[in-house]
Amino acid sequence: MPHENTTAVILAAGKGTRMHSDKPKVLQTLLGEGMLHYVAAAANAVAGRVLTVVGHGADQVRAAYPALAEGFVEQLEQKGTGHALQVAWERVRQSGATHCLVLNGDAPLVAAEDLEELIGTAQEGADIAFLTTTLPDAGAFGRVLRGAEGDVTGIVEAKDFDPAVHGADTGEVNTGLFCLSVAAVEDALFSLTSANRAGEYYITDLVGLGVQAGLKVHALRREGALDLLGVNSPLELAQAEERLRAGIAERLLASGVRLHQHGQVVVGPRAAIEPGAELTGPCRILGDTSVGRGARVGAFCQIADSVIDAGAEVREYCHLENAHVAAGAVAGPFTRLRPGADVGENARVGNFVEMKKASLGPGAKASHLTYLGDTSVGAGANIGAGTITCNYDGVHKHKTEIGAGAFIGSNTALVAPVCVGAGALVAAGSVITKNVPDGALAVARGRQANIEGRGKKS
Ligand code: UD1
Ligand code: CA
Repeated sequence: MPHENTTAVILAAGKGTRMHSDKPKVLQTLLGEGMLHYVAAAANAVAGRVLTVVGHGADQVRAAYPALAEGFVEQLEQKGTGHALQVAWERVRQSGATHCLVLNGDAPLVAAEDLEELIGTAQEGADIAFLTTTLPDAGAFGRVLRGAEGDVTGIVEAKDFDPAVHGADTGEVNTGLFCLSVAAVEDALFSLTSANRAGEYYITDLVGLGVQAGLKVHALRREGALDLLGVNSPLELAQAEERLRAGIAERLLASGVRLHQHGQVVVGPRAAIEPGAELTGPCRILGDTSVGRGARVGAFCQIADSVIDAGAEVREYCHLENAHVAAGAVAGPFTRLRPGADVGENARVGNFVEMKKASLGPGAKASHLTYLGDTSVGAGANIGAGTITCNYDGVHKHKTEIGAGAFIGSNTALVAPVCVGAGALVAAGSVITKNVPDGALAVARGRQANIEGRGKKS
């Protein structure tokens, strides 16, 4: 249960220069979701309210996360992590929370359990609780300084760290996760200065200031907690993504999902795969996708925001986006289902068939080389190889309706808007521009003429 007395602040205004991308850093994706998705999910699990400080690319971040809309705070100039918290502080106070949990937006592997522990420490009386970990090489992370008794005395950022002044590097670093008593830290927060090499207001200076002011400062130390450290480069992003992927694959296996080549099965955090489903890698199943019991997804498929019902089969090399494959239906190999594609129960959609805003009724078939756009196909109809719905006149899209049990001969062009009645038959090679009544035979092609004596001079 979230702690109602705790307001979380996610710092997400930075540029992320080291990512070499125009996209705001927190929108860099892992398993199809931006970093902010993961951080916000962890924060929401433990805190009563979540505020997100945005700045660089603020409009893009706002647009990508409408669910966080109420909690956005804009940091117009990025003057450092301490400044980011100052900008959000008025909203923290307004929320009435006694505690403020601070997270870095670029640490997507943070887990709710770590946050729970930190909140627990703060609620037991620490004015400033923060999480640290120890690395073989402290790299660019903030160094945690401790006194002779082992008590924390401050954090020094890598750029400012000098063993001659600060003592030998112990490898203990700041993870960037803090839980603060709102009442106790306010004075220290607004007395931060930018007197450091980067000329920024560092949230990490709160620790030293807090100690000097006699606040209770508690560092929770975790050994080797790589997961808590942020992602600062394409390499770290790839490593974090792989850790998340492997974790999800392991959870799926434990729950009863069968995975082949499990090291290459990529399932996003929002996808729901039921026990008894079977996935073969390499494949990517992302976004808000569900795969039912007994359903199978073959290798080389990319599936996003789609519903695959129990017992359906998506064979190798399919591309699905916002599509539905009903129970008993078979798609692929090599099928492209674009938004609004709906393959009905026991229907069949085969190789090099593309569907967009199109439905195949129960038991209908479109087995080869076909485009169905803005089309409904009735139950049991058969769409011959090479059938194309001509749905676009260059300005508008038009609909095609094909009745139950109709048979469309190979290489037919259906020029929309047009209806083919139930049980009708369209001859192969036809260009259909007029409606075909139920049960009728439509032939719309040039007649064949056989001329004797090919190639002989008279
Ligand atoms: C920060 C910590 C460092 C810690 C490390 C852990 C500081 C000064 N340093 O360093 O001690 O070891 O995280 O990963 O806090 N941000 C803003 N506004 C700003 C600047 C940054 O919102 O003006 C956000 C960034 O978008 C990012 C987060 O704050 O999500 C952390 O900033 P970043 O520049 O990545 O800090 P690090 O150098 O990683
Ligand atoms: Ca960082």
